[in-house]
Amino acid sequence: MKKTGVTITGLVVLIALCVNINSCRKSDARKGPSSLTFNIPAGFPAPAYDFTSNPLTQEGFNLGKKLFYDGRLSKDGNFPCGSCHQQFAAFATFDHDLSHGFNDQFTTRNAPGLYNLAWHKAMHWDGGINHIENQPLAPITAPNEMAEDITNVISKLKADEEYKRMFVAAFGDDEINSQRMLKSLTQFMLMLVSADSKYDRVKKGTATFTAAEQSGYVIFQSKCASCHKEPLFTDLSYRNNGLVISNFLQDFGRMRITNKKEDSLKFKVPSLRNIELTFPYMHDGRFYTIDQVLNHYATGVQNSATLDPLLQNRIALSTTERLNMRAFLKTLTDSSFVKDSRFAE
Ligand code: HEC
Ligand code: HEC
Repeated sequence: MKKTGVTITGLVVLIALCVNINSCRKSDARKGPSSLTFNIPAGFPAPAYDFTSNPLTQEGFNLGKKLFYDGRLSKDGNFPCGSCHQQFAAFATFDHDLSHGFNDQFTTRNAPGLYNLAWHKAMHWDGGINHIENQPLAPITAPNEMAEDITNVISKLKADEEYKRMFVAAFGDDEINSQRMLKSLTQFMLMLVSADSKYDRVKKGTATFTAAEQSGYVIFQSKCASCHKEPLFTDLSYRNNGLVISNFLQDFGRMRITNKKEDSLKFKVPSLRNIELTFPYMHDGRFYTIDQVLNHYATGVQNSATLDPLLQNRIALSTTERLNMRAFLKTLTDSSFVKDSRFAE
């Protein structure tokens, strides 16, 4: 009783103050969206993304998250970004080589996991999209993905009162346009930072590798890390790791973008963080297990003019080395990231 009394008194004083100096409403409006901090994990390089061009705010992030999970960004309502990018699979498509899109069609590549995108200079397996803010236009308009038209998406958003409120909260007024939609989707994606795996905790000194994990790590550093570079587990370059081209997909990778012969069969080196969760593997999802991947590096690498020199001699591992490598790769699973309620639908 006494407590309630005190609170009510406090409230009365506050209201009285507001009325008196007539400043509370004004200062509320001036306050605007609340800024969100982007934490660079210890040991990570500087991000490639220029945050000054799109300052992160809680409201911008919330709007981006709603858009990411909203089927209305697709033609028939069934294919939100989150249908192909599933949190429990580190935002890859769980257990699918290619993903389902509009009208019973499939994507022509494997959906990559989405995390640590702030460090990527370009998007997609071939780097064909040079800025993260333009990326969503590709799936929204692709006939085999979301099959929608940006003007339609914007009209659907404009018809929704909740979106109006959320655009006001994020941008200060109720103008709903594609630029704002793309900036807020980008804010959501930038915040998907994965840096709390066992590997990261070992680096911080708060966990220790088992003997098998430690041996696996040593082999990894000598055989794999020049391309799958720590701490992102990719050097973000485009390389040919010797996969035989699929006759069905006829995908020449980076060459499709640059038209240069020397880029034939090169793909962006994928990060190996959360690799346990993002199977199947490679740009077309051709391998379902890490063992198949290791078989590829041991005996499957195909020679060609653009094969990466680091793979000329293949990478043969003994049975024990393989076991240790698998143990190490599992330490890259970030369970807190895939369960983080900030990113959940
Ligand atoms: C039908 C499945 C599907 C849907 C829906 C989808 N994506 Fe994707 N996404 C993919 C595939 C497949 C790729 C790989 C494309 C490529 O490399 O050519 C991809 C690639 C990406 C990438 C590049 C990641 C990297 O590492 O380069 C980003 C970012 C992304 N998607 C975000 C989104 C957003 C945002 C949406 C919603 C607006 C979305 N996706 C909707 C399947 C999908
Ligand atoms: C010469 C550079 C290079 C080396 C060395 C290398 N890789 Fe890769 N790795 C790549 C490229 C490029 C891809 C993607 C190829 C594609 O999809 O066309 C890839 C893909 C992968 C994938 C699939 C990831 C995914 O999300 O689909 C795994 C797993 C992998 N590598 C593990 C390893 C391991 C383990 C080693 C060491 C034994 C290794 N790599 C050595 C360049 C390399």
